[in-house]
Amino acid sequence: MTKQKSILITGCSSGIGLCCAHELKNRGYRVFATTRKAEDAAKIEAQGLESLVLDLASSESINAAVDELLKRTNNHLYALFNNGAFGQPGAVEDLKRHVLTEQFEANVFGTQELTNRIIPIMRQQGYGRIIYNGSLLGIVSLPFRGAYNASKYALEGLADTLRLELYGSGIEVSIIEPGPITSAFRKNAYIKYQQNIDKDHSFFKVNYEGMEARLKKKGPAAPFTLAPEAVYKKLEHALESAHPRAHYYVTFPTHLFGTLKRLLPAKGLDWVLRKVSKEENQTER
Ligand SMILES: NC(=O)c1ccc[n+]([C@@H]2O[C@H](COP(=O)([O-])OP(=O)(O)OC[C@H]3O[C@@H](n4cnc5c(N)ncnc54)[C@H](OP(=O)(O)O)[C@@H]3O)[C@@H](O)[C@H]2O)c1
Repeated sequence: MTKQKSILITGCSSGIGLCCAHELKNRGYRVFATTRKAEDAAKIEAQGLESLVLDLASSESINAAVDELLKRTNNHLYALFNNGAFGQPGAVEDLKRHVLTEQFEANVFGTQELTNRIIPIMRQQGYGRIIYNGSLLGIVSLPFRGAYNASKYALEGLADTLRLELYGSGIEVSIIEPGPITSAFRKNAYIKYQQNIDKDHSFFKVNYEGMEARLKKKGPAAPFTLAPEAVYKKLEHALESAHPRAHYYVTFPTHLFGTLKRLLPAKGLDWVLRKVSKEENQTER
């Protein structure tokens, strides 16, 4: 690279965000690796990364982080990787209103609020890259993941619309769709499950036991799980290709279910999705 490119990445305390921050730094980017908690910002700074605190659930935090970023870069940013998010497990009928709100505050509203703060900077530059981290679960749904499914479907809608609206601006919009990736995702989802789901008063008490086993399982919980570097490879393409793709599928399950979604009637796809979520669907084992 001739001129150093800068990128802001959300959710860098662990998993995909942390991996991509290191990879891009090693590639010569100026990386602003953000974390929700101040102690994690300190930890990743100790690893040699430049860090900012950014909690997507707080407008104040988003604005403070962007103000500081623009001060440090003299109002410039090449790319934004909207990576930070969490998964709220639970059957749809067990989701309280505030639980759905929390899921959307971080994964959707905060992500788009941040993006909307960055777009004017990129418009002024006449170039930029906005990359969302979506999910296979923004393409097809699985039981007991309704809040997360809905948040990732919402990101698909925002990213696809933004791509149409930014056509010709020099700003490219992509969405990466990972399938299962090794990270702290299940550990964090288990915490949210314990905080927000009243298992003992749920119709699905037995199913939740299967779900708990999946969330607590050591090592990969699903076949074809890949390391976060697999997502990084797609991110690199989205950042550096002259013609970045609109959608990047990562992992075999994403390719498989992306194809099945197009080919199968809805009830046929439901049958397959019930079979693959056997931990939760104990009655169908
Ligand atoms: N792992 C998978 O199988 C998989 C599959 C498809 C898509 N994805 C997507 O990949 C992205 C990264 O997840 P991961 O797998 O790397 O999981 P992870 O290790 O749990 O990382 C998620 C990151 O998002 C951060 N985050 C959560 N709530 C936030 C908030 N309110 N504000 C700012 N950051 C917040 C977390 O911070 P804290 O540590 O402070 O909570 C953490 O740094 C997510 O968008 C996820 O939906 C993951």
